[in-house]
Formats: sequence, C-alpha cells, structure tokens
Amino acid sequence: MWRCCRAVASRFMCTSTSTSTSTSTSTSISAVGWWDHVGLAPKDPILSVTEAFLADTNPYRINLGVGAYRDDEGKPIVLQCVRNAEAKIAGSDFMESHSNAVSSKLVEESVKLVYGRDADVVKEGRFAGVQALSGTGACRLFAEFQRHFYPESQIFLPVPTWSNHHNIWRDAQVPERTFRYYHPDSKGLHFRALLDDIKNAPNRSFFLLHPCAHNPTGVDPTEEQWREISLALKAKNHFPFFDMAYQGFASGNLDKDAQAIRIFLDDGHLVGCAQSFAKTMGLYGHRVGCLSILCMDSKQASAVKSQLQQIARAMYSSPPVHGLLLVSTILSDPDLMALWVEEVKVMANRIEKMRATLRENLERLGSPLNWEHITDQVGMFCFSGLSQEHVDRLSKEFHIYMTHDGRISMAGVTTSNVKYLANAIHEVTRSTKAA
Ligand code: LMR
Repeated sequence: MWRCCRAVASRFMCTSTSTSTSTSTSTSISAVGWWDHVGLAPKDPILSVTEAFLADTNPYRINLGVGAYRDDEGKPIVLQCVRNAEAKIAGSDFMESHSNAVSSKLVEESVKLVYGRDADVVKEGRFAGVQALSGTGACRLFAEFQRHFYPESQIFLPVPTWSNHHNIWRDAQVPERTFRYYHPDSKGLHFRALLDDIKNAPNRSFFLLHPCAHNPTGVDPTEEQWREISLALKAKNHFPFFDMAYQGFASGNLDKDAQAIRIFLDDGHLVGCAQSFAKTMGLYGHRVGCLSILCMDSKQASAVKSQLQQIARAMYSSPPVHGLLLVSTILSDPDLMALWVEEVKVMANRIEKMRATLRENLERLGSPLNWEHITDQVGMFCFSGLSQEHVDRLSKEFHIYMTHDGRISMAGVTTSNVKYLANAIHEVTRSTKAA
C-alpha cells in the first residue's frame, strides 16, 4: 500500500509546481493515495433501472422499475390533498429545524393509521414513535436500535424481500437470516414453509414482515393465514417488525390494509412498524415517515423514544421540515384526510385496472403461459415470473425496463402502453413452456 502510495505520490510530485514547499509536498503525498482501494459500488438493483430507462431515448420506452406511483399518462402526480396542504402551510413560519410539536403531531396521527384510532396502545401512549426519513430511514433507525439493545440478535427477512432491506440491516451490522415466503411454482405464498421457518428460528428472533402489498411479490397472506402467522410468532416469542410502505395500495382501504398489524395487536404482540408516505402521498422526494415501537407502558415508551432520538441525533439530527408539515397537515385535517383517503382509492383502483388489462391482453394474444397471478397479486408490484433472460430481451428489444427478478411496478403501466407491453411480454415468452 505504502509503495503504491509512493508511486502515485511521485507521479504527483513530477507534475506539481515548483512553488510547493516541502511541507505541502508531504501533505500531498498522503493525500494522493487515500482512496486508491475504493472501487465502484455495485449498482442499486432498483434505482439503476430508472438510470437505464432515462438513458434510452426510444419513444416507446417504459419504466416499470421503481415502485413510485404514476398516473395514466405515466407521470408522477401531486395529490390534490398535498396541493391543498401546501396552500395551507404557505407563508407559515416553518424554517426552524426543531419543529417538535409538528413532528409529534405527525407521529401521533401516523400511529393511528396503523394501530387504529381507538387502539389501547395509542390511547395509553404505549408507543415510542419518532419521525423518520421515510421507510428506509425508519427501518435503518430500527436496525440500529436493534443492534444497540440486542447486539447478538439477527433479522429474519422474507425470501424475497425489498432489496434495500439487505443493505439496511447489513450496514447496521445485524446479521441476516431468511425465512421462506414465496413459492415460484404457485406464484403465491409458501405458507407451510413460512410457518416451519418461524417455528425453527431461535426463540425471541426478530422477523421483518410486509403487512400489505408485499414488495416485490404482491403476494399477501389471507386474514386467516395472518392469524396463524401471528400465533406462530407468539409461540416462539419472536418480535414482529412491520415495514408498511404501501398502506392503502393493496385494497384501496387504509384500515383494511392495516388488518395484519391489528391481528397482532389483538394477540398481545409488542410490534415495531416503519411507515412511509413516499408512495401513498406521492412524496418520494420528501422522505417523510415514522418509526414506532410498542412498549409495555408509557414509561418504557419514553425510554425507548429517547434512545431512538439519540440514535437519530448522531445519524442526521432531525429530518427536514417541509414534507413533515405537509403530511401532518393532511393527517390532522378531517377534510384533507378524507380527500387523501379518496385519492389513495383512485390510485389503487387504477393499478388494479391495469392488472386486469395486462392479463386480458396477454390471454387475448394466446400466450401459452398462465397469467392469473397478475390479478391474484395485489398492490404496486406484480412478480411476473419473467426470467432474467426475458427481462434483458424486454429492455434490449422493446425498451421496457424492470428489475432483474421480473418485478413489474404496475404503476408504470398505462392505458396507452399496456398493449405494447403485453405484446412484448408475449414475444419474449411465446416459446416458454407452461409450468
Ligand atoms: C421500490 O421498491 O421500488 C420502492 O420501495 C422504491 C425504493 O426506494 O426502492
């Protein structure tokens, strides 16, 4: 290393100007070699899809990568409730970074969305809640908290799961384990295997669950299955941590999509939950979210909250204020809240309609494959079953971009591109044998 630094340094010295003093030269010697060992990071499997799409100038290009909502014109939207909230906060005195009262309001209203307005844990203040940098920030904060207070613990992630979960717990230095979730043959839930894996995990393990609109598969357990999952976790004293990034997108109804979490509450679990408003309020760029951890009583909740705040303080101090104001304004104003509920339904319905249309088109083309799973799966994603080779052909030959695992962000499908998409999928799969 030293030799290599010296070699680089001597190259540098040859080109340096004669006015350098010997002190500045030795500073330069060490400055030159600092990052020689740093290579390019691997591309993010989701964000790199957008990069590839943006680099393509073909007029038929389609981005089915990132799971952010798009309207039927393929454009990101600003919800009307957000516009109204913006008008309401315009000119308000919100530049001060420590808007504790607003942040508490956001947390107070967010927890009602997941645990229920009248839930005992909410009424009794038995939750430690903090504003977080969207779902990623909430997960990361929890992972750090987990490592601080359970340094020997691991996190059990479903197979498959959102690719960033792996990064988040890896960087928090919490070892990852997995549990079976999805069955590629049925393109549905691998339910018995999932229960077995819960049973076989060491007692008091941490399990990450997607309460609705599972990312990337779009496969959710039924209500009955959630009840069994909850009891299986309870029997082993496992800790359920929910990543709630798509509340409302599975069924179009916020309460219905929180059903899994409410089942766990009824069974007496203490759970954790990461919430994001990136997709459901179309605020991806604002990074607004909430992390909550249920506790035995309010005293314990204060202690847990203080620790979360301290971890956040060292990582980013406090989150930005503008998005926070938008979300807390919407959640605490009954009219804006009602408008948001309607708008979530509209977004969920559009996605559902595109699922049906895509399937219809593929069937009309006489595809040899079964496409029922397109409409069986729910939420923003369709785990299409397309292979990496199919995905590569779709991008190269048809300018259609999705993640390598064949995940389709249904939000990118529109009335005007669905036919083209179905034709392209049919073209790349027509010689594939049905399972
Ligand atoms: C996705 O899975 O596409 C979304 O959660 C967006 C993201 O940040 O990865």
